[in-house]
Amino acid sequence: QQVYYYDRLESTNRTARELAGRGVAGGSLVVAEEQAGGRGRMGRSWFSPYGCGLWFSVILYPEVNPLHAPPLTMLAAVAAARALRRTAGVKAGIKWPNDLLVNDKKICGILTELSAEMERVNYLIMGMGLNVNIAAHQFPPEIRETATSVLRETGRRSSRVALLQDLLAELEYWYLRWQREGFAPVLDCWKELSVTLGRPVRVFTMKESWEGWAEDVDTDGSLLLRLPGGEYKKVVSGEVSL
Ligand code: BTN
Repeated sequence: QQVYYYDRLESTNRTARELAGRGVAGGSLVVAEEQAGGRGRMGRSWFSPYGCGLWFSVILYPEVNPLHAPPLTMLAAVAAARALRRTAGVKAGIKWPNDLLVNDKKICGILTELSAEMERVNYLIMGMGLNVNIAAHQFPPEIRETATSVLRETGRRSSRVALLQDLLAELEYWYLRWQREGFAPVLDCWKELSVTLGRPVRVFTMKESWEGWAEDVDTDGSLLLRLPGGEYKKVVSGEVSL
C-alpha cells in the first residue's frame, strides 16, 4: 500500500483510476491539497479549495459481483460518519445513499467509480470529499446555504491528518468486516446513522421523481419508498431531498 500525495490534481478519482489501471496495491491512497476539477455525483462538480478539505480516493480490488457493489459506497459513508462524530465532534448523519449531513447541510460526499468486466470488478475507486476547515464565506454562493464544514459547525479548525487517519481506520475495519460477514452489519450501522429513514422524502432520478415515506433500505442498498397509495417503490439510484 502506498500514499500518493499531491499538491494539486485535477481529480483524485481520475489519478486513482490511472494508478489502478497500472495495478498499484489495493488500499493505496491518492490525496491532494486541491482539486482543479473535483467531480461529484450526477455530473456535478465538487468544490475543493487548497489546504482546507480532505480530497482523496482509495483504490480497492473487491471480489464482488459489480451488481452487488453499491453497498460498498454505503460502507464508506458509515466510516466517514463515525470518524466525523468521534474525531471532529460533529453529529453527522447519512442521507441515502451516501451523503453526509450535519444540521441538514452537506459536509461530505462520496463518488465511487468502478471498472468491471463480465461478473467481476477490475477495480473500485472510493472518492471522498470532506469539508474540514472551510469558512462559511469561502463557499461559492450557490452552495453556501446547503453546504457546511467541520469549522462551520464547531467554530474551530480541526486536524485533517487526525480525521483522515481515523476515517481510514474505520474504512479498513468495515471493509474487513464486510469480507468476513457480508453487508448485514454495514447496513445495520448505516440504518442507525441514517437521517432518511422514517421520514417523508422526495426522490429524484435523472427522469422521474416520487414522493413517499422512506421505509427501509434493501440488502442491495436500494431505498424502499412507501407511496401515498400504499404500494412500495424500490429505488436503486437517485437523489433524496428531505
Ligand atoms: C458527491 O457528489 O456528493 C460526491 C463528491 C465526491 C468528491 C470527492 S473529492 C475526492 C474525489 N475526487 C473527485 O473528483 N471527487 C471525489
